[in-house]
Amino acid sequence: MPYYRVVGEVPRKRHVQFRRPDGGLYAEELMGEEGFSSDSSLLYHRHLPTAVVKAEAVTPTADARLEPNLPLSPRHFRTQELSSAGDLVAGRMLLAGNGDVRLSYATSDRPSELYRNSMGDECVYVQRGTVRFESTYGVIEAGEGDYVVIPTGTIHRWAPEGQVSVLAIEAGGHVRPPKRYLSQHGQFLEHAPYCERDLRAPAEPLVVEGEEVPVLVRTRGGLTRLVYRNHPFDVVGWDGCLYPFAFNINDFEPIVKKTHAPPPVHQTFEGPGFVVCSFCPRPLDYHPEAIPIPYNHHNVDSDEFMFYAGGDYSARKGSGIDVGSISLHPAGFTHGPQPGAVEAVIEAVGRGVTTTSEMAVMVDTFRPLDLGPGALACEDPGYAWTWAR
Ligand SMILES: [Fe+2]
Repeated sequence: MPYYRVVGEVPRKRHVQFRRPDGGLYAEELMGEEGFSSDSSLLYHRHLPTAVVKAEAVTPTADARLEPNLPLSPRHFRTQELSSAGDLVAGRMLLAGNGDVRLSYATSDRPSELYRNSMGDECVYVQRGTVRFESTYGVIEAGEGDYVVIPTGTIHRWAPEGQVSVLAIEAGGHVRPPKRYLSQHGQFLEHAPYCERDLRAPAEPLVVEGEEVPVLVRTRGGLTRLVYRNHPFDVVGWDGCLYPFAFNINDFEPIVKKTHAPPPVHQTFEGPGFVVCSFCPRPLDYHPEAIPIPYNHHNVDSDEFMFYAGGDYSARKGSGIDVGSISLHPAGFTHGPQPGAVEAVIEAVGRGVTTTSEMAVMVDTFRPLDLGPGALACEDPGYAWTWAR
């Protein structure tokens, strides 16, 4: 995270005695990245954050097998057709993944159990509904269009208010704003399409009393359920530059060129081996002879995974793609607008159309994406041939 924050009570100096009203000591915990050499926060617990009373292996409830995208094809998945069981963690249906990132979809109205992903950060995009994100750092009220970025190792849970649908991006490392948006000291620069004011983080501590509280922990070795002697939500204060935050896609400030701009102008986050881009409603490119939708392109080092979250998709007209759809355009394949889409958009501009209402979240990976059972269960098998009709 780019900037310092303090929530609740913290002592005047770090690593000094900090006492509870009853005279006992609060337990200080450092959560820090990259071997004490990057962002960190200090959290002050009522109880020892180290006190666990039980550990048990957990058999995953969801199928996590991946298979290569062979024969190589562009793909269309219709998440509208997926029905999920479980909560927003255990009920995730794996769509695609590789050694760097896993992409899943989940719909649920049930609260999840406490969960800690120790493999990497998570970036969870809320497509629909409102959900309370609770964590050791406090609460974030999240809703439609929010990306919630959760640092590695953060104990948290999701409590939906009604039915909630999410796209979960599970990274193998840290998810951050692109470096080119930041000054050398971490402030968002004026050319960045969003800034600190757009980020929402916990504003006050969340303290819950409880004993023998299970926490589902994901590691590279698998899933474990650790039972903590005391509830992990016992932090009275914390400070630092590492904490969960939300950013709403509607706060993204699209950058528009005279002729068509490539996806890096839409970049929102970066993670190891992938980027996340937000395609938002915006004015169309404004050269008098502009073709204001993408040109045919072969992004030779990337697989493009595009989740169509809302709006209207001029470039995809005739492909069957609709809100809730996902397209996967892999390296090794040239893709572009569907036949007739260029002519249609030129004609629309001639009628006075000046904006696009598309809303999409794209994850571009630098290694090929394999396909998961969630995607294969909702694939539109005819998509690959829609350019040849
Ligand atoms: Fe593309």
